[in-house]
Amino acid sequence: TWTPDSFIETTVAELKAQIGNDKVVLGLSGGVDSSVAAVLLHQAIGKNLYAIFVDNGLLRKDEFEEVLESYKGMGLNVTGVDAKQDFYDVLTGLKDPEQKRKAIGGKFIDVFQAEANKIQGVKWLGQGTIYPDIIESVSVKGPSATIKSHHNVGGLPEKMDLKVVEPLNTLFKDEVRRVGKSLEIDDKILGRHPFPGPGLAIRILSDITPEKVDILQQVDAIFINGLKTSGLYDDVWQAGAMLLPVQSVGVMGDERTYENVVALRAVHSLDGMTADWVHLPYEFLAETSNKIINKVKGVNRVVYDISSKPPATIEWE
Ligand code: XMP
Repeated sequence: TWTPDSFIETTVAELKAQIGNDKVVLGLSGGVDSSVAAVLLHQAIGKNLYAIFVDNGLLRKDEFEEVLESYKGMGLNVTGVDAKQDFYDVLTGLKDPEQKRKAIGGKFIDVFQAEANKIQGVKWLGQGTIYPDIIESVSVKGPSATIKSHHNVGGLPEKMDLKVVEPLNTLFKDEVRRVGKSLEIDDKILGRHPFPGPGLAIRILSDITPEKVDILQQVDAIFINGLKTSGLYDDVWQAGAMLLPVQSVGVMGDERTYENVVALRAVHSLDGMTADWVHLPYEFLAETSNKIINKVKGVNRVVYDISSKPPATIEWE
């Protein structure tokens, strides 16, 4: 029978045999899959694993620093790359969701390749691909299906002449989490909500600017921290905020305001293919809305998304 410990034992032994003394490069995303893949590889080959974590300027507030810290705490040899400006540059003026995804995916490969090239004699690319990723990429199911590519560094293995190693490609998500638990990976990482590769770029409708990212990071942090302190976070499959390209009239003191609208979204799901909106308590929504409007300059209205998937998607872009 399958157990996390037996999986770890066999996989580490196999990785050792397969990789020997070669060097492996792997992109970390802060998510469950890449983190578990990294720790398994680290157990097998130690310092010969070179992990790279890219700040694309589209992560959650303080995410880059916090996640980098916890990776270092796990003993991983990880390089953090601040590429915020490069991503903002290629996104300038882009409004179309698929164009934004393409620009981000392309830049990610550039940045990752530039870092990987600094590692002398690297032979392998490690990836956190899990079993459903493989199924999804062969089935046809709409725009976001083409894009799981973020974690999978498309095209790079051939370009750099790297062999690919994917230690999790027989596992489902819940099995990955169990393996992660056995490896004593922090619950903060294992319990994370899924977060899309293009990050906040597909939650800022229309074009991206650093100012909009800053506004959305503040809103998102209030919402997510609120879910955590209210004990609701673990009951929700995924949550986040969208910055709408819409201004609405409001009033602050005696002044009329004309500011941005944000939408909050929280869903229950098993695999992201279908989803129901979460009936968050009214008191929680009221408190969150007040906090956002009072604290975040540039936002004067909060709405809650009550659409299910299908026909709506989880993300707005
Ligand atoms: P949708 O919006 O299609 O999202 O209902 C389903 C799940 O996929 C995530 N998602 C993405 N993940 N790159 C990713 O890595 C993407 O371009 C992308 N688009 C959507 C979304 O966050 C949800 O978990």
